[in-house]
Amino acid sequence: MLERTFSECRLGPLALKNRISMAPLTRQNAEPDGTPTDEMAAYYARRARGGVGLIITEGTFQNDELGCVGYLSQPGIATARHVAGWRKVAEAVHALGVPIIMQLMHAGRVADPRCLHEGEAPVSASDTQSPGWVLYTDTDKEMHDRGLAPPWPKVTFPRARALTVAEIHRIADGFAEGAARAVEAGFDGVEIHGANGYLLWQFINPRTNLRSDEFGGSAENNVRFARLVCQRVREAIGPDRLITLRLSQDGVDDFTGAWPGGVAYARQIGAALADCAADALHWASFDWADNRDPDSDLPMPKVLAEASGKPVIVNGGITDGADAERVFETGSGDVVAVGRPLFAHPDWPHIIRSGMAYDWIPFDRRYVIQPPVDLSICYPQDRRVPDWDPDVTRRRRPGWMG
Ligand SMILES: Cc1cc2nc3c(=O)[nH]c(=O)nc-3n(C[C@H](O)[C@H](O)[C@H](O)COP(=O)(O)O)c2cc1C
Repeated sequence: MLERTFSECRLGPLALKNRISMAPLTRQNAEPDGTPTDEMAAYYARRARGGVGLIITEGTFQNDELGCVGYLSQPGIATARHVAGWRKVAEAVHALGVPIIMQLMHAGRVADPRCLHEGEAPVSASDTQSPGWVLYTDTDKEMHDRGLAPPWPKVTFPRARALTVAEIHRIADGFAEGAARAVEAGFDGVEIHGANGYLLWQFINPRTNLRSDEFGGSAENNVRFARLVCQRVREAIGPDRLITLRLSQDGVDDFTGAWPGGVAYARQIGAALADCAADALHWASFDWADNRDPDSDLPMPKVLAEASGKPVIVNGGITDGADAERVFETGSGDVVAVGRPLFAHPDWPHIIRSGMAYDWIPFDRRYVIQPPVDLSICYPQDRRVPDWDPDVTRRRRPGWMG
């Protein structure tokens, strides 16, 4: 039963006891200055105890420059306090024999405006504006406390300005510095967030990258920034730590997004990443087998695996053991990453291995936010920044990061 899923494997320099990874899941559960809490250590350790072979943390900011921070109460890896907080997380997870890597991200044009400095515009590949998105990370309780009525508030973002080439290099260095601090905190590597609508995605996606320099205009140029980040990170943390690069078609402000060119574009992206410094790619979607290309029925992660020759972590809609096995049977990847089911069932790996029937309730906001298991540590029940306001017109308080 589930032989492939529960077989050992190597991912870059790491030996995994099985092929199940926890997917990166933003919790907004850090202190206001981005310091990880003891509650977060308990939350990650609980999932390690549940039997995963690898943990990828939630998206973490590496500095407070150029609009890197994406969310209120997002954890950071920018200061000595952050390192100390994350060390507790790494130690708690390692005590259970599970490796853990930290997802590093730059929010780009979808940074929460309250996280920008006074007068600062968000940055992106080009001068564009996000269409905005409906917040899914806020609780019904908050809505009630603020007297808001459904529908949920739509968040809008200011127009972004295009990064200069010098700034692109500075941001790549920022990723490398964050990665070095993650290693200092005891992490086994990092994931570079090139997916889900954030800065590197905005370069990779031809609809948001309108540049005509070496960082835009072709698949090869569109991934040049992501490649640069991987390279600088590798130089910073050496060959013994895992580096993964996450990719997706959709973004937080575009859940059904498709790459113009579909599978053909994905092939070009894969080929352009074949010799990048990442050990593995990580495909993110809400349905891993989907490719959103009407002319092809190939799962997108399989396309990327073949074009890049890299191992691929496959994520999206894997809710039971049969789903996981199908990823491996179809040659679509090497490891599966599981998100929402692990919110709800920290013991998901044990549960699917036992063959026991379990109740997978399809994703809905309420289920993710108030799951029946681990209620106290699955999701922040009250926001640590008390003056949250859905109109997104305020600015962060000065000196928030100490
Ligand atoms: C509440 C929530 C927070 C998320 N946070 C992140 C994140 O920090 N970084 C990331 O790359 N993906 C993030 N994702 C996307 C998930 O990693 C994953 O791609 C998505 O949930 C689909 O996988 P699943 O079907 O296994 O849940 C988040 C998803 C949800 C629902």
